[in-house]
Amino acid sequence: MFFNNSCCSTILLFMNKINAAITGVGAYVPEYILTNDEISKMVDTSDEWIMTRIGIKERRILKKKGLGSSDMGTKAVINLLEKTNTLPSEIDLLICSTVTPDMQFPATANIISDKVGIKNAFSFDLNAGCSGFLFGMSTAAKFVESGNYKKVVLVGTDKMSSIVDYTDRSVSPIFGDGAGAVLFEPTNENVGVIDEILHTDGAGRVHLHQKAGGSVKPASHETVDAREHFVYQEGRHVFKHAVMGMADVAIEIMKKHKLTVEDIDWLVPHQANMRIIDATARRMGLKRNKVMINIEKYGNTTAGTLPLLLWEWENKLKKNDNLIFATFGAGFTWGTIFLKWAY
Ligand code: UT7
Repeated sequence: MFFNNSCCSTILLFMNKINAAITGVGAYVPEYILTNDEISKMVDTSDEWIMTRIGIKERRILKKKGLGSSDMGTKAVINLLEKTNTLPSEIDLLICSTVTPDMQFPATANIISDKVGIKNAFSFDLNAGCSGFLFGMSTAAKFVESGNYKKVVLVGTDKMSSIVDYTDRSVSPIFGDGAGAVLFEPTNENVGVIDEILHTDGAGRVHLHQKAGGSVKPASHETVDAREHFVYQEGRHVFKHAVMGMADVAIEIMKKHKLTVEDIDWLVPHQANMRIIDATARRMGLKRNKVMINIEKYGNTTAGTLPLLLWEWENKLKKNDNLIFATFGAGFTWGTIFLKWAY
């Protein structure tokens, strides 16, 4: 007899532990490319300013009238189901992270489920600003780890162009439209979501929000005239908190799991500003060749950002790769997830 009883039960528990693994990625970006040169014709800015201060060259815009976040999310989910040979009827739950829902209610998740033909699932929206997809990963993982749900879709989709004021030079270059989706499934292998550190500080809401259109200030002629249905951001203040927040949690999770720079295969950071991404990587001790970056061509797509990165890097990822996700966004919300790639 090598093991005593408690040792045996610990090993059994470990063997039976259900982890939530990402088993596929889908995405969609609209065709229309909004360049810095075109933005320079709308507001007093330049390609040089945008490239040096933010690091964005172009972004995608969903142009056609009558289309919203659900249309991009639907395309991303269909792409995901096709790639993973999954039938809509097999999905147990669909979570949609967004700050630009099709409408106040019902949830965009329900609209996506309907458009995709997902009939045997329940669905709901989750709003955590630019950390929406990260918080969604945590939520999706919990449902899978419970053992009650086998196939959970998490979609991040944002039509940021619907809330960007294209007469405001401090906001208009930053955002783009796009969507991505991942499938979470249970596994007994030591892959998938390993750990997380998530934070919110509601006091930060004053620095980044949309002033009107909610229950406090419903839409009126006055709110439209005052241009209060757009993103309001105090950039410098948010920048300072984003640099600290993202790097602090990423370093904390590295320390907690005794991960060295060599152990980390990829940093998957939110793409709000190239200088924030560089500062986070620098504090973690990572070189740029281990950082997923797509800000130059898509800008900040809010909840779409993380899955768009995974979609583009999918071919480079290997089973057991260690990924550190890190985000910061409106709320304030910020956090990190340590995930082992499953395929
Ligand atoms: O994803 C959600 C979380 N959001 C973020 O993480 C965003 C964090 N913030 C940022 O990325 C940056 O603060 C911005 C990109 C928004 C702004 O860059 P900045 O280097 O912080 O610029 P600033 O706001 O301090 O403004 C510096 C100057 C100002 O002129 P004065 O007052 O110094 O004369 C602005 O008026 O740059 C001016 N400026 C511009 N100039 C040319 C602001 N926007 C522009 C522009 N083109 N587009």
